[in-house]
Amino acid sequence: MELKRFEKNMINEVVTVFRETILTINRKDYSMEQVKVWANNSQTLDEWLDRFEKSTTYVAIINGVIVGFGNLTEDGWIDLLYVHKDHQAEGIASGIVNQLEKDAKLRMINRLSTDASITAKPFFLSHGYQTHKEQSKLIAGVSFTNYKMTKLI
Ligand SMILES: CC(C)(COP(=O)(O)OP(=O)(O)OC[C@H]1O[C@@H](n2cnc3c(N)ncnc32)[C@H](O)[C@@H]1OP(=O)(O)O)[C@@H](O)C(=O)NCCC(=O)NCCS
Repeated sequence: MELKRFEKNMINEVVTVFRETILTINRKDYSMEQVKVWANNSQTLDEWLDRFEKSTTYVAIINGVIVGFGNLTEDGWIDLLYVHKDHQAEGIASGIVNQLEKDAKLRMINRLSTDASITAKPFFLSHGYQTHKEQSKLIAGVSFTNYKMTKLI
C-alpha cells in the first residue's frame, strides 16, 4: 500500500469509496434509511474539494486503485476515514491514521479528536482513542449515533 497526498483528480474515486463503504460496511451498524442519507451526502464536488483542501488528506493506493482515505483538520480533527469495502482489516486505516498522527505531531497538535461511527469505534479504541460520550447527529433529518473520541499524542 502506498500513501499519497490527495490531489484534485482523485475526487471522483474518493467519493465513490465513501459511498460504497457506507452502503456496505456501515450498513452492518446502521439502517438502510440511515446509510442512504449518509452516502448521498449532498455536497457538490466543489464542496468536497474544499473540505479536502482545507485539511491534510491522504489516500491509500494499491495497484493504482484508491482503497482508502482520511483527513485531519488544522485543529486536530479526524474528519473522514473510509476504507474500501473489499480491503477491510488489511491495516489500511492504521496506515492512514499513523500518518495523520505523525503530521499532527510535526504541527505541535497534541490532542486528536473525531466523531467515530459505531463501525469505527473499535478501530479507534485499538489505536488508543478514548470515548468521551455517545452523541446523536442529524443528517437530512435522520438521526445517527456516533461517539466523541480523543487521543493525546
Ligand atoms: C473503521 C475502518 C476505517 C477501519 O479500517 P481498516 O482498514 O479495516 O482498519 P485496520 O485494518 O487498519 O484495523 C486496525 C485495527 O483496528 C481493529 N479493528 C478495525 N475494525 C474493527 C472492528 N470493526 N472491530 C474490531 N476491531 C476492529 C483491528 O482489530 C485492527 O487491530 P490489529 O491491527 O491489532 O488487528 C473501516 O472499517 C471503515 O471504513 N469503516 C466504515 C467507515 C467508517 O465508519 N468510517 C468512520 C467514519 S467516522
